[in-house]
Formats: sequence, structure tokens, C-alpha cells
Amino acid sequence: MVILDDTGKIKEIDRSGMLRTVEEFPRQCRDAVSLGEEVKLSEDLKKVSSLAVLGMGGSGIGGDLLKTIVESESKLSVSVVKGYDLPRHIDSDTLVFAVSYSGETEETLSVFAQAIDRRAKIIAITSGGSLQEQAARNGFSTIKVPTGYQPRAALGFLFLPMLIVLSRLGLISSQEAAVSEALGLLAALSSRFSSKQPVSENSAKQLAGELLGKFPVIYGSDGLTAPAALRWKCQLDENSKVQAFWNVFPELNHNEIVGWELLKELTRNFVLVFLRDKKEHPRIAKRMEITRELISGHVGAIHQVWCEGKSRLAKILSVLYQGDFVSVYLALLNGADPTPVDRIRLLKERLAGNW
Ligand code: PA5
Repeated sequence: MVILDDTGKIKEIDRSGMLRTVEEFPRQCRDAVSLGEEVKLSEDLKKVSSLAVLGMGGSGIGGDLLKTIVESESKLSVSVVKGYDLPRHIDSDTLVFAVSYSGETEETLSVFAQAIDRRAKIIAITSGGSLQEQAARNGFSTIKVPTGYQPRAALGFLFLPMLIVLSRLGLISSQEAAVSEALGLLAALSSRFSSKQPVSENSAKQLAGELLGKFPVIYGSDGLTAPAALRWKCQLDENSKVQAFWNVFPELNHNEIVGWELLKELTRNFVLVFLRDKKEHPRIAKRMEITRELISGHVGAIHQVWCEGKSRLAKILSVLYQGDFVSVYLALLNGADPTPVDRIRLLKERLAGNW
């Protein structure tokens, strides 16, 4: 654990500076809001009856966040498309965000092409590549995000502009208060969890220590922290290079809870993290309490991480952001550089030219 307070050692392992990028996330979010405010939008983008986000992995998670926020306040449904085929219901009445950090992700380009054929209204979000070229050729509005990030580390750029654009188009309510609360809260959390805060005063470093040598399992709740739980899982996979799992209350009470019954010697290697909110549905709170009582002897430990803030945006981003810190600290404890994702790179290389 002492290594997490050793700046020299951290720099040695974290060669591309992922920790600094995570610490600077609040500033990225501020810049991302400006991107959403500045992009040119035509009137016809307002005439839609549904929304869709096309994107994989680090570029797709913003769609999950958007869905959770938009569907709680608007009648518009949000489809998050993570695959090669565009659902039939996406058509000329749909506003589609095509999101790919690299602009070269084949699944996203495949559904993007189908969305063009269906005459959907499209906004591209990318740092370049084929997506940028094709969007320009078709005259689509494009939110050009800065290069030089790992896609997952550019979440602010890939997510927040969508929220701002929807609000500018009048498709959702003004997000001004929520965004301002979220930005302030993220800045406070950045200081609280930064590398400068020693282990003794830094709950993100402490939780990383609890997860070391274990399989993390992140449980969120439907309609609020579910996308944050998925983000925790993906960040633990990609940054910390460990297998992690996620699920959602109340659904997991109808199946997964039984899986913590046999193989006790093995399941003790799993450490659970419940993502909580003080205002979560009272039955969810009750379910979490009972679940804890039923399974605590069968897993390594159960920890809780709480949302902060008032708006849904602030709550979700606050609990998600804690996971980003934990994943980087766990990488450092594992002696692993959080930035490279060799398996993803190799897989894409092998796929390319292999049609
Ligand atoms: O985190 C990652 O690197 C991946 O999950 C990518 O985001 C994913 O492969 C899609 O690539 P892109 O974000 O460039 O569309």
C-alpha cells in the first residue's frame, strides 16, 4: 500500500500518466460542456421521437449514462447500440449520436452506415478517423474531441456534449444546474482522492487495497447506478488488468444471489462493492441489506460506495469517478501500467484486413 503514497514509484509504473488524466477529469468535463455548447445544430435535429447512441466500450458507456439520465425525465427512449446491426425501430425520426473515439471501430461504423441509409438524424462524436470523414462527407454535425487520450479516459468528452446538445435542442430540460453541481462535486472529489492524499485519508486508495488479489464484483441499482457499476467493471478490467464482474439490483436478487451458495472456498476470493445512494428506492435499500446478511459469509468482503450530490447527473458521475480512481490505484498495486490495453489492440489488429 505504501507505494500509493510514493510519487516516484507511481511515475515509474504509470508511464503514460493515467492517474493524472483521472485527476484532471473535472477539467475535461468543463471543456466537454463547451464542446456541446459550441457545435452547430440545425433545426431539423429537433424533429425526432427517439434517441440512439452507437458506440462500443469506452465510447459506448456514455450512451448508458445518457439513457439513465434522459429516460428518467423525458418521454424519449434512448437505444444504446453496441453491435453490428441497427435495431429496426431506428429511422428518420431518431436522433442518433455515432460515438467512436478513434473513429475506426468497425461495429460503430457498421451501424452508422445503416443509420445513414435509414435517413436518421446524425451527430458524430469522434477524435478523427473514418467516422469524422464520413460525417463531414454527409454534412453531419460533428463534435470533434481532442486526440491523445485512451477512449475510456475521454469519457467526459464522449458523454457530456450529448447531454448539452439534447438540452439545447429542447429535447430534455435545461441541464445547467445539474452540470454546474456535477462539475463542482467532481473537482472536490478529485482533491479528495488524488495521489497527494495519503492512504490513511484516501478511501479510493484504501478500497484498491481491499480489492488487491481478489475478483471485484460491482453491484449497482436499476435506473441509477447501473451504468456506473458497468463503468467500474470495465475500468477494473482495462486499467487494473483484473477480471471484474457487475450486476444490478433488484434483478440479481432473482438469480445471481443463488450463485453465492456453493464453492465457498472459491467465492471467498470475490470482493463485492455495492454502489449506494441515500435516496435509493427503499425496497432496494432493504434488498441490499438482506442480500448482505445472506451472502456475507460466502464472499471475501462487502464494501459500499456512496453517490454524492443532488442531481442524478452529479450522483452518477460522483460514484463512477470514485471507481476510476480505485481502478488506477489497483493497477499501481498490481505493478501494472494502467494505460495500455494490449489485448484490445491485438484483437483489432488481427481483425483488420481479415474480412
Ligand atoms: O477502452 C477501450 O479502449 C475500448 O473499449 C474502446 O473504447 C473500444 O474498443 C471502441 O473504440 P473507440 O472508442 O475508438 O470507438
